[in-house]
Amino acid sequence: MRFLLFLTIILSSCTYDEIDLCSTQEPSFSECVKPIIEQNCVTCHRNNSQNGLLQTYEEIKPYMDNGKLLDRIQRDANAVGVMPPSGQKLSNNEIQILKTWYENGTPNN
Ligand code: HEC
Repeated sequence: MRFLLFLTIILSSCTYDEIDLCSTQEPSFSECVKPIIEQNCVTCHRNNSQNGLLQTYEEIKPYMDNGKLLDRIQRDANAVGVMPPSGQKLSNNEIQILKTWYENGTPNN
């Protein structure tokens, strides 16, 4: 039980460290952007999904360039087409990380 508590604290502090690491002027694709998309999007957007694929840099970049990804994640939590759907909206911090990465020209770093 105590071990579980310990593990929970360690794991949650990792998450916060990661967010801090990424809340900079230059969030990297591999350390910051990809983990956010892996955790929140790929359950639906992978393999032979008809809804668009978001597993790799090559798949994610076009959705940044055409504005669809940033549009969907910034819709109101209960709006039609918000991503992820059903009230699981990304945090402001996560949205900002994706926007900053886009403003920097979607580097593959
Ligand atoms: C529970 C499943 C699910 C999750 C999780 C999910 N999506 Fe979607 N997504 C869909 C479905 C279904 C569609 C197609 C219907 C529509 O366009 O609204 C879609 C459509 C989209 C589209 C439009 C695709 C196009 O070609 O026009 C984008 C962009 C998108 N999602 C981005 C995301 C992002 C970014 C995340 C994570 C932050 C995410 N989605 C999480 C199910 C999901």
